[in-house]
Amino acid sequence: MVRTSVERVWSVSDDKNPDQIQYAQLHWDEDGQPLSSVFGDVYFSRANGLEETRHVFLQHNQLAQRWQALPETTQFTIAETGFGSGLNFLAAWELWLATAPTSAQLHFVSVEKFPLTKDDLVRSLALWPQLQSLSQQLIDSYPCMIGEGFHRLSFMDGRIKLTLIINDAARGFLQLLTTTDPLYSAYSPKVDAWFLDGFAPSKNPQMWSEDLFSCIHQLSKAGTTAATFSAAAIVKKGLKFAGFTLEKVAGFGRKREMLKASMADNNCDYFYPQPAYKSSSPFPSPWSINANPNIHAKKQAIIIGAGLAGCTSARALAERGWKIILLERNSAIASEASGNPQGVLYAKLSHKEEAQAEFNLASMQFAQAFYSSRWENIGEKSGVLQLAHCTSEQLLQTQLREKFSSANELVQFVSAPQASEIAGTPLDFDAIHFPNAGWINPTKLCVQLVQHPLIQVITATNALDIERDDGNWYINNNPALRAPVVIIANARDAQHFKQIRHLPIKSIRGQITYLPATTASKKIKTVICSEGYIAPAKDGIHCTGATFNLKEESAELRIEDHQTNLENLHEPLKDLVDEWENQDKNLLGGRVAFRCTLPDYLPAVGPVADEISMLNNFAPLRKNARAFIQDTGKYLPGLYLNIGHGSRGLAYTPLCAEILAAHINNEPFPIANELVNALNPARFLIRDLIKNKR
Ligand SMILES: Cc1cc2nc3c(=O)[nH]c(=O)nc-3n(C[C@H](O)[C@H](O)[C@H](O)COP(=O)(O)OP(=O)(O)OC[C@H]3O[C@@H](n4cnc5c(N)ncnc54)[C@H](O)[C@@H]3O)c2cc1C
Ligand SMILES: C[S@@+](CC[C@H](N)C(=O)[O-])C[C@H]1O[C@@H](n2cnc3c(N)ncnc32)[C@H](O)[C@@H]1O
Repeated sequence: MVRTSVERVWSVSDDKNPDQIQYAQLHWDEDGQPLSSVFGDVYFSRANGLEETRHVFLQHNQLAQRWQALPETTQFTIAETGFGSGLNFLAAWELWLATAPTSAQLHFVSVEKFPLTKDDLVRSLALWPQLQSLSQQLIDSYPCMIGEGFHRLSFMDGRIKLTLIINDAARGFLQLLTTTDPLYSAYSPKVDAWFLDGFAPSKNPQMWSEDLFSCIHQLSKAGTTAATFSAAAIVKKGLKFAGFTLEKVAGFGRKREMLKASMADNNCDYFYPQPAYKSSSPFPSPWSINANPNIHAKKQAIIIGAGLAGCTSARALAERGWKIILLERNSAIASEASGNPQGVLYAKLSHKEEAQAEFNLASMQFAQAFYSSRWENIGEKSGVLQLAHCTSEQLLQTQLREKFSSANELVQFVSAPQASEIAGTPLDFDAIHFPNAGWINPTKLCVQLVQHPLIQVITATNALDIERDDGNWYINNNPALRAPVVIIANARDAQHFKQIRHLPIKSIRGQITYLPATTASKKIKTVICSEGYIAPAKDGIHCTGATFNLKEESAELRIEDHQTNLENLHEPLKDLVDEWENQDKNLLGGRVAFRCTLPDYLPAVGPVADEISMLNNFAPLRKNARAFIQDTGKYLPGLYLNIGHGSRGLAYTPLCAEILAAHINNEPFPIANELVNALNPARFLIRDLIKNKR
């Protein structure tokens, strides 16, 4: 029965334990080479690991030849089982620099169940001084691991992208698929070359499972190649099962043989010749699949709105060779919500397993890496303290302890005296400390991001209307403003475009207050958050805020809102605040702007649904929330959205730009597919159907 295979694929998530991470247990031989104490196997050939990698994985996937022949701005995806010390990744990176066009991009996706600790990584990579300049970049960016999950690292202005997935190989690759339903594997991103590493099948048969080979099949296409050091029967059988043609060739050093493989044609019916469309499918209806053909050969896009969302999106696409027109209605970019002089880089951590928590963690980790080389020009990596100033915050911080206890580079749990020491001012509360966060001037950041030869900024231009004709979208019916791809990134004003009028966009007024630094407040060294926040003084002024007012449109500064901002600081910083309280509030400066948010507090990032067709197609959901509708989602070709960053634009927008670029460019996503779907703007239409509201 056709669906039997489906159920097997489905079963790989059964032993999920996402919070537990088991680091590799190593010992070192007399030559200083790492060995696994658990599997009793080597990480690479004792004779010469680097030469082995070059022989097995680089040469037998014909990478040098293939990369020399790559057209400009294209991409190439390698997927690997077992990241280990990253040696294969570094060797591929080195070869890429020597052979691929400078405008092309290498995606290296690797799934690792037992990651090395940073210390072990450093020790292993010290064996390869010839790779030092690359390995140091990997070491500097090696992520802080918090349970299972995706980590996207970007090197050399995005020329090299590493997606490190901490999970079992089969489960990790399953999360790359566009849906877990194999009937739709044609829509999943495709790998160009597989590095099937991993401990020998005799020592680690669990990894070389049928589930893994099923994922390999679904992620491959005609022309995909694979190479592996092993010629064991289980590997041969698996690769054949996945649709590859095999060839035995000489192994490295004393190894007699290894396998190279290629796929002539991936007929997606290979496993599932007779799709069995049943209403009782174990999978949700594939509403999230955007089945529009790839219409983006021209790589030209217009982005509406030059705040954090628009500028990060422009940069992400320009680094992929896209020519961008960035439209802004004001005379200067980043002058609305993204125009505050000091914004705080923070995210809401949670111990829960839900989309909100996962997205906040992923975006904070990505943002810290994104800003790591930029701090000097955009703000200050001052650290951020979140005080346990009330019962609910105390409870939350207690709950966070277990999950984040060894995530010191991300978050530290500090006592009140430690918090006072970090802040440079007395504090009565325990706190969590984000040592690698701080405050950012979003305008400076945006100005820096758009400095790219492929980005043209056009200010003082209000996009009033978007229409599609002849494969292009036209802004304001202006032939000079046309492109096959348009990205709507104009926050709450997006609701004026008829194509997305169905989205439940909310606008929230916020006011910040500028406080003149006093002798005592100048000592504040870090951002302090409680009910409100205060940043260290910059040019004699602290930014503090911010108020929240739903459905209020006034852009006037209000004395009572200054008062609210001061009150919110009162509890942790009473003595400091008393001094400001006594000043004439009419003299206080500040700024008003509007946040854009959605009811589930997640941004909307991805293709824009074709409202009418989507409602028609998925109408059976009104009667049966679990109805299986075999047709894919209906989306407007080339129209995308990136809005809804609420109060966390600084944390959210860098990752969202990367997600958007993956949608547009058909790349592997930097986050698990389930989370991609949780951000899909069409989710509101589907929810409305299920609740019978539409
Ligand atoms: C008071 C306040 C304090 C905040 N503090 C923080 C903080 O500390 N940390 C944090 O991370 N976040 C903070 N935020 C949230 C953060 O500012 C936002 O999440 C972020 O700026 C959103 O960026 P955006 O690009 O989506 O929107 P915006 O910055 O509003 O950008 C949208 C752009 O689109 C332009 N536009 C609109 N319509 C059109 C059109 N039709 N044609 C052309 N252009 C158009 C607008 O002029 C604007 O420049 C704060 C927000 C407020 C209001
Ligand atoms: C031979 S080492 C890989 C060496 C690595 N490619 C390198 O360049 O250093 C095998 C790796 O597979 C990992 N591994 C073992 N079982 C796994 C599984 N079920 N899923 C994913 N990775 C696994 C091990 O932790 C180890 O890092």
